Amino acid sequence: MLQVTAAAGDPREAAADLLAVPVFKGGIGGPGAAPVLAALGLDAFPVTPDFRGDIGQHLLVTAPGLTAKGVLLVGLGRMDATDPERLRRAAGVAARAARGVERVATTLAEVHANTDAIAAIAEGFQLGAHTDRRFKSADEDAPRLREVVVLVPSSRLTDARAAIEGAERYARATCLARDLVNTPPDRKRPPDLAAAVRRLLAGACDVTVRDEAALAQQGFGGLLAVGRGSSAPPRLVELRYRPPSPVGHVVLVGKGITFDSGGLSLKRGNHMDWMKADMAGAAAVAGVLSAVADLGVRVQVTGLLALAENLPGGDAQRPGDVVTIHGGTTVEVQDTDAEGRLVLADALDYAVGLKPDAIVDLATLTGGAITAVGQFAAAVMSNDDDLCEALRAAAAVAGESLWPLPLWPDLRRFLDTPVADLNNVGDGGGGSSIIGGLFLERFVGEVPWAHLDIAGPAWTPAELAAHYLPPGGTGYGVRTLLAWLERRAS
Ligand code: BES
Ligand code: MN
Ligand code: ZN
Repeated sequence: MLQVTAAAGDPREAAADLLAVPVFKGGIGGPGAAPVLAALGLDAFPVTPDFRGDIGQHLLVTAPGLTAKGVLLVGLGRMDATDPERLRRAAGVAARAARGVERVATTLAEVHANTDAIAAIAEGFQLGAHTDRRFKSADEDAPRLREVVVLVPSSRLTDARAAIEGAERYARATCLARDLVNTPPDRKRPPDLAAAVRRLLAGACDVTVRDEAALAQQGFGGLLAVGRGSSAPPRLVELRYRPPSPVGHVVLVGKGITFDSGGLSLKRGNHMDWMKADMAGAAAVAGVLSAVADLGVRVQVTGLLALAENLPGGDAQRPGDVVTIHGGTTVEVQDTDAEGRLVLADALDYAVGLKPDAIVDLATLTGGAITAVGQFAAAVMSNDDDLCEALRAAAAVAGESLWPLPLWPDLRRFLDTPVADLNNVGDGGGGSSIIGGLFLERFVGEVPWAHLDIAGPAWTPAELAAHYLPPGGTGYGVRTLLAWLERRAS
């Protein structure tokens, strides 16, 4: 992981490969940039017709007279905007532009030297610099960004260091989730993924894994039904964190389909490679549990990862099968591609038995969520307005977009079937994401619950990579949930 530190000092003397300085829309140098730009003779803007200081833009120039070898001008957009997300993105742009050098110093924090801003900058650099080279054989020795020095006024050094430490924990947890999502599906089949999580979270929380025999004995019919078509059996991973005298108990549930082919209701070939990311909900829950102890979260947190591989093997479940979910509810499987709700139903019913104060599930549940709220936002559905608002407030702090969808009671009847308690598709009334939410609602009883459909923001297609979102898994949800948990206890 990239190392981020805070230091005070003259940016013109910063010993770094690159000095990243902010420039506002219209080419006005930020406070930290002014002396640097003056030293470079660059006070006249725009420097090029294309670089206007817009958010997302950057321009690399040489640095005669400075200690740094080059200067990276980073667009910050409007001068009067102050939200930390803008700085997080600018830092991400800088990190991606600086991937081939080892050491960066930056004056980005001089725009707003408060702790939220400094944390956002550190987070943006760490998330933007994160790459996955595990499956590259040759470029071990290639130079890469290793260190970022955030220049701050000397009066802010202590605060800045604390802010950076917190940001680092958030970024590390996010990147743990990203790495799990990016792992090829042949290397994270449910037993492998359960073992990897056990190894990665050793020391952070207690880990128990239910294998297929335990799942059968305890009636987890949804997980077993979805896993039948694969030679690798399902797993339920339970992660337990319990601080001394906890302030309440929440259960986090993650959809963990390690590969979603659709099963016998096979998906068409396009974009099926994306479907290794169908465990992004489970990955996010693992990321959260990796960090709660270090952050000193005061809430008891249980994580449930519902892991199965949805393949059309010879023993695969069939459309028409009736599955008995944990707790006894029966479901007619009309489409084997609506598998996420089957494994989540098991986990949600089990979660209710733990008598928590709240349940939050994260799932790449429906393509319809991308249609409804777009690629970059998750949809939240909830039976509790306070919980929903608290999650949205936390998401705003984290820089993750979360938008509510209603659980319209009028749509419930589409989940009826003459054959069983529910069907798993709910066709006929539209609103596929809401239908998914209504299906899950049947398994949470009276417990305050929120469902985050993260089908869009869990994954960044290569052509959409930008700022602190490199191609691939994003770790969406980790930072929102950590912020929510930290605020919940305060
Ligand atoms: N994992 C998919 C949802 C998905 C699709 C996420 C595309 C991201 C991109 C899920 O298991 C699924 O197949 N959902 C179906 C449900 C339908 C069959 C009721 C869908 O959304 O089409
Ligand atoms: Mn599916
Ligand atoms: Zn799926």
